[in-house]
Amino acid sequence: MRIVRSIRDLQHALRDARAAGAASVGMVPTMGALHEGHLSLVRAARAENDCVVLSIFVNPTQFDESADLEAYPRQEAQDAELAERGGADLIFAPTVDEMYPSGHATTVHVESPLTTLFEGARRGSAHFDGVATVVAKLLLAALPERAYFGQKDAQQLRVVQRMVRDLGIPTRIVACPTSRDRDGLARSSRNVRLSVDQRRRALAIPRALTAVEAAVAAGETDAALLRALAVETLAGTSSPEVGVGIDPEYVAIVDPDRFEPLDTLAGEALCAIAARVGGVRLIDNVLLHPP
Ligand code: PAJ
Repeated sequence: MRIVRSIRDLQHALRDARAAGAASVGMVPTMGALHEGHLSLVRAARAENDCVVLSIFVNPTQFDESADLEAYPRQEAQDAELAERGGADLIFAPTVDEMYPSGHATTVHVESPLTTLFEGARRGSAHFDGVATVVAKLLLAALPERAYFGQKDAQQLRVVQRMVRDLGIPTRIVACPTSRDRDGLARSSRNVRLSVDQRRRALAIPRALTAVEAAVAAGETDAALLRALAVETLAGTSSPEVGVGIDPEYVAIVDPDRFEPLDTLAGEALCAIAARVGGVRLIDNVLLHPP
């Protein structure tokens, strides 16, 4: 697996790939510590493009706590092996200096409730500025035809879609479904920190989302009722031992494009949940399609 570290080397490698006949490039931006959820994006990119580049960059500007940034797992050799098996052609793993050279003074800011509510509120306004800035830089460095993002991070996906549209970056953003373990838990690098018991409790999150999805399919459109159903399922009202020890941070029924809370479901909506189980913060969501 070829790993390039500079924007210049990335551009040369992609120019060579295009000269050798690659008609399209698909990019999968990640922060590494790859798991099956990331690989589902790589496979989607592989199916639709002649050349697949995976980026690995633990982006300092999107972390609100330096301890969190330092503790972020870095395992490049293992990631390279997984990326190769998943079907990537090239890894772009720049240094912090390469992405933010001394004197770097430009930030991409998406001015919208999208960046201030929920994950924006919890992680601070700088978080989505960091995400928008680094994704803009990655896309401008590679200029891929398509870039792949997970629905798992629904708010991030919307911020990226808005940024790409507003800046006219000529890349199509492809939303990929949330990859789940067999028990329903959304795949995340944080899941390894859950004990067996905590993991069992965390399953209240996908259970709550499934309950809301079923209620919507059955015709429920009152967002307050749907939210209450999710909260109740998380709290384990129906089966007391299940929900104990899960601490919801937010449960929201929102417009899927703007992330503004809804009163009534008229069209597509999104149910998003963030909750803590022990010391582990988990997020998950489901798109709702009223019949
Ligand atoms: P990271 O957390 O490494 O995630 C990289 C991509 O994998 C994101 O698009 C994320 O939504 C997707 N992903 C993670 N778990 C998934 C799952 N279970 N199913 C489907 N997709 C999943 O998100 C980031 O990195 C960064 O913010 C980044 C966009 C790279 C900018 O720094």
